[in-house]
Amino acid sequence: MTDKTHPRTKPVDKLSPQEAGDELVALAAEIARHDALYYGNDAPEITDAEYDALRRRNLSIEQHFPDLVREDSPSKRVGYVPASKFAKIRHRIPMLSLDNAFSDEDVVDFVARVRRFLRLDPVAELAITAEPKIDGLSLSLRYESGELVHAVTRGDGTTGENVTANAKTIGDIPVKLKGSPPEVFEVRGEVYMTKEDFAELNERQEAAGKQTYVNPRNTAAGSLRQLDASVTAERPLKFFAYAWGEVSALPSDTQMGMVAALKAYGFQTNPLMGVFDSVETLLEHYHHIETERGALAYDIDGVVYKVDDLSYQERLGYVSRSPRWAIAHKFPAEKAMTTLNAIDIQVGRTGAITPVARLEPVTVGGVVVENATLHNAEEIERLGVRIGDTVTVQRAGDVIPQILGFVPEKRPDDAQPYEFPATCPCPLQTPIVREANVSGAESVVRRCSGEFACPYQRKEHLKHFVSRRAFDIEGLGEKQVEFFFDDEMLPIRTPADIFTLAKRDAANPLQKLKNREGYGEVSANKLFEAIEERRTIPLERMIYALGIRHVGEATAKTLARAYGTWDAFEQAALKVADGDEDTREEMDALEDIGGAVIDSVAAYFSEPHNRDLVETLAAELTIEEAERPAADTAFSGKTIVFTGSLERMSRDEAKEMAERLGAKASGSVSKKTDLVVAGPGAGSKLKKATELGIEVIDEDEWFRRTGQ
Ligand code: IVH
Repeated sequence: MTDKTHPRTKPVDKLSPQEAGDELVALAAEIARHDALYYGNDAPEITDAEYDALRRRNLSIEQHFPDLVREDSPSKRVGYVPASKFAKIRHRIPMLSLDNAFSDEDVVDFVARVRRFLRLDPVAELAITAEPKIDGLSLSLRYESGELVHAVTRGDGTTGENVTANAKTIGDIPVKLKGSPPEVFEVRGEVYMTKEDFAELNERQEAAGKQTYVNPRNTAAGSLRQLDASVTAERPLKFFAYAWGEVSALPSDTQMGMVAALKAYGFQTNPLMGVFDSVETLLEHYHHIETERGALAYDIDGVVYKVDDLSYQERLGYVSRSPRWAIAHKFPAEKAMTTLNAIDIQVGRTGAITPVARLEPVTVGGVVVENATLHNAEEIERLGVRIGDTVTVQRAGDVIPQILGFVPEKRPDDAQPYEFPATCPCPLQTPIVREANVSGAESVVRRCSGEFACPYQRKEHLKHFVSRRAFDIEGLGEKQVEFFFDDEMLPIRTPADIFTLAKRDAANPLQKLKNREGYGEVSANKLFEAIEERRTIPLERMIYALGIRHVGEATAKTLARAYGTWDAFEQAALKVADGDEDTREEMDALEDIGGAVIDSVAAYFSEPHNRDLVETLAAELTIEEAERPAADTAFSGKTIVFTGSLERMSRDEAKEMAERLGAKASGSVSKKTDLVVAGPGAGSKLKKATELGIEVIDEDEWFRRTGQ
């Protein structure tokens, strides 16, 4: 688990803009990767709770640092860009996602928000539906004249895959609707597999000596996305209808009424859906569903609340990727009990010491947990745990599993209290020191004082150096770093060693890599090729890969763009290290770069060991010049008006986008307006723009021009 996710323990309001920016970059990439695993390969590595935690963290940082919201922010996308094996179909109405509530208070807030938005009188009634959140995958079914025209997966929310042939094999999906449905009717709902069918399928797989599946959701997803529909036909998939997309007429004006209509047209709808008129009754129903959860034939992961009145829904509209009129109340994180076998010390790249709990493997919410973070010595003390204790682990809110406490009755007589070491566990046994934080008090963070001398830190540096966003060398990951670092024959102890590996191997007549355990001719050559491929590296990656404290991806990029070449950057870095005030000022003037970054760049380049390391490394490489920033975007200084209904973004989002591009979003058209982005239903503003001869484009063109 530990290498798949990163601890993000710093409270958002304590982050510097730099850290926030770096974390947003990392989160965007990480969430995109998990989206790809979840939607693309149907093979998630983390649980939904962990995924939600990542998204929440991202959102929370964005709320604290609205200026730092990225173009590729996960909050602007829903799901994954569809795989290409199926034909793509664009949803006429996007398939969005739901916001999450994790506590009763979140639900209270949701209802209050809705009331405030609608300016409802405190005594005015507000009906809200509650229904199980099915843990499957959503599907949009388009019916014309009552006939199924196509079935499309959610994809990225805008475009999905045409899986019509497969959907037709699902018994719950009528090919022809009953009754008298509107001419055009898009039904949306969830494809799922029952727990029993899943277990039976796995038994069959096992009997046939085939690979078994992880959980019903992924199996359902994989089954629906089979290129051969006859395979789908053999899989027992089911479908619940709960929503709709484009419709030529609405058969009802409430959510409940619409779902009743869906049932009348021949769909399965969820019997646990109800409509309620207070937060109390909503929560009561939530707890009722929660108690039923285990007995249900299918997996659910929460309860969805929706404002019942469709005219209210329309007024409430959407906020970027989710409707304001609905929310998913997730079930709490799952917990489990297991034994604490040991506490190990992990030494990070910067020497930070983190105690990690080694647990007797236990399944928590479908995933095997073996490690949990213990943060620091204070946390161990607070929990009062001893080695040998039975502990409660939880996987939720936070990304890495947490230990909640121990069971006193189960404490064995020989349970060992843990003593925090005074020295680094590395062979050098360098003292562990505590830093003073800004207020001068001792920080809870302890560091190994060994720096370059500490092999643990050096290994972590190397791992960072080869990591995905740094040199990203295929076949040289954390495991291989461990291997080569400790290797006597063909060691890699510094980044430069990586680039001399092939030469050293060639020069060594005995014990070639290809003859070593775990390697053969092909894999050894592949590794050498992969290394060769990275001998030419973009400047920003080079800077990031050095692992200078506070220099994350975003900062590395800024520095690369500002200095353009490695030589220019290195000169500047050496100058700040020598205390050159002019260079310091020049660096300080760069966006998002401040004292902390400059101090660490200076500290890094003051160290002779680092200077050597960087020199030998640079001599091995061709470092590409950085792209100089386009001085202006095509929109700088322009005044843009958005009018009509926008389908791919909310009005707020459109405004934010314009501002990020250096433009101003205005509410009214005048002679000063440079551009009008008009969606369907645009009226007087569009007319005025035409009269004034102002350029008018549609939403798609806007996305094209902004390169989205
Ligand atoms: S309503 C505009 N109702 O949850 C949003 N969604 O996180 C319409 N889901 O993509 C969705 N059960 O795949 C809705 N009863 C339910 C649901 C449900 C499961 C899924 C659906 C959606 C995701 C949102």
